[in-house]
Amino acid sequence: MIHFIENGFGLNLKTAFAAISLAIIGLLVHSTSASAQELDIEKIFFCPAGDMSEDDCLYARDTTLITCTACHVFTPFVKAQKTEEEWDSFLESHRGRVEETSDEDYEDISKFLKSHFNPDNPVPQLPPELENYSLPPA
Ligand code: HEC
Repeated sequence: MIHFIENGFGLNLKTAFAAISLAIIGLLVHSTSASAQELDIEKIFFCPAGDMSEDDCLYARDTTLITCTACHVFTPFVKAQKTEEEWDSFLESHRGRVEETSDEDYEDISKFLKSHFNPDNPVPQLPPELENYSLPPA
């Protein structure tokens, strides 16, 4: 019985965390900003994208949001318009920050970032709370 609960929870943990972090961001923005309508999560983190299927893209999106918002909000990477080469070199230098992430998941994050935040796509406008969010010290 206990095992069943643990397994069920484990399987859904990732999706649950992504949903929770999105809900918290949504609430935060909604309660503090008159411009809450400006933040369209589905538009910024759209799926499908690149050569990923809808399912692969949604999985990569969860992985990116969980992994990459542990220390800072998503502002620095959704505002980036990096080429594939620039993302590769950035991700190489940021790898040590997410040592527990598997190479496979890191590859998903890489695909997600490259297919969304590049010079071909417009820079998303964020509400002031997120727009002005500063990075933690290195
Ligand atoms: C362990 C904490 C931590 C995690 C996890 C983390 N970051 Fe960061 N990130 C930082 C810190 C600290 C900075 C401040 C500048 C620096 O040292 O690079 C930063 C800066 C950045 C920047 C701006 C700097 C630049 O060179 O463009 C981007 C973009 C970024 N992070 C993206 C990500 C992505 C994508 C992920 C997920 C793979 C991620 N971060 C995960 C700590 C973290």
